[in-house]
Amino acid sequence: MNVENFVKNAIMEIRERVGDGKAIIALSGGVDSSVCTMLAYRAIGDRLIPVFVDTGLMREGEPERVKEIFKDMNLIFIDAKDEFFKALKGVIDPEEKRKIIGELFVRIFERVAEENRAEYLIQGTIYPDVIESQGGIKSHHNVGGFPTNYKFKGIVEPLKELYKDEVREVARYLGLPKEISERMPFPGPGLAVRIVGEVTPEKVEVVRKATKIVEEELEDIPKWQAFASLIGKATGVKGDIRVYGYIISVRAVESRDGMTADPVRIDYNILRRIALRITNEIPEVTRVVYDVTPKPPATIEYE
Ligand code: XMP
Repeated sequence: MNVENFVKNAIMEIRERVGDGKAIIALSGGVDSSVCTMLAYRAIGDRLIPVFVDTGLMREGEPERVKEIFKDMNLIFIDAKDEFFKALKGVIDPEEKRKIIGELFVRIFERVAEENRAEYLIQGTIYPDVIESQGGIKSHHNVGGFPTNYKFKGIVEPLKELYKDEVREVARYLGLPKEISERMPFPGPGLAVRIVGEVTPEKVEVVRKATKIVEEELEDIPKWQAFASLIGKATGVKGDIRVYGYIISVRAVESRDGMTADPVRIDYNILRRIALRITNEIPEVTRVVYDVTPKPPATIEYE
């Protein structure tokens, strides 16, 4: 792929397809939707409506960074945290969680499309998404295009022939910051699938803080993904009293495409530091474990 030509052609294609109409895009802060947003903005300027839905399930600082990076655009920022937490109350089944999050997301997005009379939908579907959505094990709500009942005149998918590494190359070429161009895969349903059992604002806050620590400590280690999950409760002693706190599982895997994965052999001293930091900095956590299970039989995420 010649990046320069790709960018030129993609911009031309968007311009041709959208004409003098308005287009909307669901911007998540991931590399695909960010690249698409940049391309579309260059193509149609303020007739592009990027929509960021804050589900309350993103990592630390993510919503704020998206606002900052795309501040020159007509970004519509929807704070839907309460709605998502309410919808997830009492739900423990992983697929049920995905379904609820996906449907609520689409409903909110459709409302914004309608309010803004967007005629076109721009999507960051990439080539592997098309294949994956044909035989997925989990119902990935944000791959292969999300289902919407809102009637668009057309759907534009400028990245549909690219592989992930090519999308990253385009991201760098477009001058997107490293945190986006090199961003690890992050599941569409966000931290909700990194909490085993019911999702509550308290648990999300705990897993969010733990994730930040894991990402900081493992920043320089080659990996496909590294993250924290909240997998249950266990007894611990803090300040001489026994407390029943959360168990955080740290997972770092190497993988080519996410279909199979191998745990990273992390230096014991680094693991120890992660465990100490998590239990010191997050009072609600009493125990930290490192997951050494490959995929298969385990999946990368806990849910
Ligand atoms: P699993 O857990 O199935 O994950 O081994 C494989 C890759 O897919 C990501 N993943 C998701 N991505 N929506 C997504 O967009 C989802 O519901 C979802 N579940 C898992 C996971 O992070 C890993 O990279």
